[in-house]
Amino acid sequence: MNIPLVDLKANYLSIKGEIDSAIQDVLNSSQFIMGPFVKRFEENFAKFCNIRHGIGCANGTAALHLALLAAGIKKGDEVITVPNTFIATTECISYVGGTIKFVDVVPETALIDISKLERAITRKTKALIIVDLYGQIPNMEQIRKLADAHGLFFIEDAAQAHAAEWNGQQPGFYSDIACFSFFPAKNLGCYGDGGAAVTNDDALAEKLRLLVNHGRTTKYEHRIEGYNYRLDALQAAILDAKLKHLPKWTDLRRQHARFYDSHLPSTIDRIVEAKKAKHVYYMYVIRVKSRDALMKFLKEKGIECGIHYPLPLHLQPAYTSLGFSKGEFPVSERLAEEIVSIPMYPELTAEQQQFVVDSIQEFLQT
Ligand SMILES: Cc1ncc(COP(=O)(O)O)c(C=O)c1O
Repeated sequence: MNIPLVDLKANYLSIKGEIDSAIQDVLNSSQFIMGPFVKRFEENFAKFCNIRHGIGCANGTAALHLALLAAGIKKGDEVITVPNTFIATTECISYVGGTIKFVDVVPETALIDISKLERAITRKTKALIIVDLYGQIPNMEQIRKLADAHGLFFIEDAAQAHAAEWNGQQPGFYSDIACFSFFPAKNLGCYGDGGAAVTNDDALAEKLRLLVNHGRTTKYEHRIEGYNYRLDALQAAILDAKLKHLPKWTDLRRQHARFYDSHLPSTIDRIVEAKKAKHVYYMYVIRVKSRDALMKFLKEKGIECGIHYPLPLHLQPAYTSLGFSKGEFPVSERLAEEIVSIPMYPELTAEQQQFVVDSIQEFLQT
């Protein structure tokens, strides 16, 4: 058997007709930049999230950068986030001259340790970037309260959390701006790069719309200097075709997760779904001390796994000059040594799920 971590081809083939015709529509119209396809997807995506405004972006990193610009974060401002995330979460802090500050996570969910968050806030702290890692949103009521009490701008990195919920609300409800990635492997992914920012705040939405497209008010009138961070029309049309299927795909991911939950050996630790959270399983993550041996064993059986992420950001070579040291964020460091993401995608068959479970069981017995 050959089981990839994510099967993009199977996903495309399941709706090939719709995708091909969406692409053809864009080609026939020749409206490649902004225009009706981008507008339609922005409206539909915002509606899907139940958030007032959606702004298409070139990718998730651009969306995060725009969010920090819209928040007015500047040189010397501290921005707090977690070390166990993709580097885009912190790159955008550096883009605006901000100072990266980390708070460790809790081992059960790999999400921010809210009990440590308040202690990390100083007079210089101006914003939070809360990561909905693996497709799960942390306790947003507590974080919103802290943000309000300390006057902090609250950005949500929802790159992995399309359709996820906390307390029945999707990304962007509790935060000031939520940023999504539509990188191909994401739960809602396009066929290239894409992203979006969503917000319920009209003034922030207006700022984001200016910034994303050269500060334009009309074709050649620019209120401010902005960026060329637009989502392109081909990707928007593809995303719009896929968006209709996202609820069904999310249900399938959750069903597969329930199968793994109940069939994986009970001795295997795993990232759990928290109370009040609706986890959408961008990744299904287990924890094993002999992680590298397990991955090798599964690879030989044709099962592809991943590690999200093998080196926490505070220990990355890119951040050596920031002076962090090993041991500072022990939970993130321990997770990095033990986590394995096992195959998870809507089209994963019952037979494939069983094979993954049996193979892990066999590894534990040998
Ligand atoms: C947590 C997180 N933040 C940000 C990003 C950046 O998104 P993109 O690759 O679309 O720029 C990603 C995607 O890879 C991500 O997983």
